[in-house]
Amino acid sequence: MKLENIAPIEWNFSERAKQLKSSMIREILKVTQRPDVISFAGGLPSPETFPVERMRAAFDSVLAKSGKTALQYGPTDGFPPLREFIADSLSANGAKISPDQVLMVSGSQQGLDLLGKVLLDEGSKAIVETPSYLGALQAFSVYRPEFVAVDMDEDGLRPADVAEKGEGARLLYCLPNFQNPTGRTLSQERRIALVETCARMRIPLLEDDPYGALCYRGEPLPKMLAMNPDGVIYMGSFSKVLTPGIRLGYVVAPRPLIRKLEQAKQAADLHTAQLTQMVVHEVIKDGFLDHHIPTIRSFYAGQCDIMLDALSKFFPEGVTWTKPDGGMFIWVTLPKHVDSMVLSDEAIAQNVAFVPGVPFYAGTPETNTLRLSFVTVSRERIYEGIAKLGKIIASKL
Ligand SMILES: Cc1ncc(COP(=O)(O)O)c(C=O)c1O
Repeated sequence: MKLENIAPIEWNFSERAKQLKSSMIREILKVTQRPDVISFAGGLPSPETFPVERMRAAFDSVLAKSGKTALQYGPTDGFPPLREFIADSLSANGAKISPDQVLMVSGSQQGLDLLGKVLLDEGSKAIVETPSYLGALQAFSVYRPEFVAVDMDEDGLRPADVAEKGEGARLLYCLPNFQNPTGRTLSQERRIALVETCARMRIPLLEDDPYGALCYRGEPLPKMLAMNPDGVIYMGSFSKVLTPGIRLGYVVAPRPLIRKLEQAKQAADLHTAQLTQMVVHEVIKDGFLDHHIPTIRSFYAGQCDIMLDALSKFFPEGVTWTKPDGGMFIWVTLPKHVDSMVLSDEAIAQNVAFVPGVPFYAGTPETNTLRLSFVTVSRERIYEGIAKLGKIIASKL
């Protein structure tokens, strides 16, 4: 029997849900699925770098050797040998981390959500760089904090700004290496000053580091986690060094916070898939990343050089851009009067896509900025796309 003459439900969403908006990137990505579009918009790693065969062999081996365990529910905090591997590799870099300080999460994006859930109340101060990673702003927004935007320059965020504006903050969110969206790196002096400032002001410092291993020039700078493991929360991800499709990341934090995050994760999804954690452990346990990551680095470094070359050839005078030492992104600043949203519509009409800068700002946006990703587009198409964009920009000057 089917009920008849019943009015449809008028959905009464929670205040929290009313905060949710579709990410502009996801909207742009829909357009960029078309093969004729040259897309510098995505934040996706290049599929050329995915170790497909190695993963296939690891799935086979895990299912053959430990299939029943791999297909069973698992512990909330994660697969113990993988947590041990992560703690050991961080400890080898000077941080002295024990496995019970590591929580496996379903992509570091889940880590951002869980941290928002356990640290932020409505109206709590959350300090973010400006601009910052859009996905973090989205994740934290659900908990309705008061965002405090701190300024950046070529050396990353300014710790003095934190000291001035951050009193009482529940969290400071920072991307020290090859930041998304700007590609900038926080200098060594600023790392020390930031760790000291946060420790003095009792502000938990969240170091989000999905790109740290993708360093193309110079030596990687020390992690802030190693400078103060009692005050720094560190997040890592397998998305950019292995594959994002397995949705695997980790949070490293002092024990009381890890236990609280674990409770929040239990409520959210019980645990991250045991099968994928076991497979990733199988892939990396004998040092695979030590030779895999350098191949990604040299591929991306070449892509980055091509884009920098194309920008200097085709972008008109008055436009500036960052020159990243690693990661996947270049940040472009146009003359003040050029609105990158308007530019984006025109570019899409000519089959070129990028992400306008506006959604990356928690505070007042700079509308003359945009983000370019250089890793998924072929070298010829980088030149073609940047040349087209250069012409559109020139028509606005
Ligand atoms: C800065 C930053 N943090 C976190 C994430 C989320 O990564 P994942 O959930 O794939 O680990 C991304 C993804 O692009 C990112 O750029």
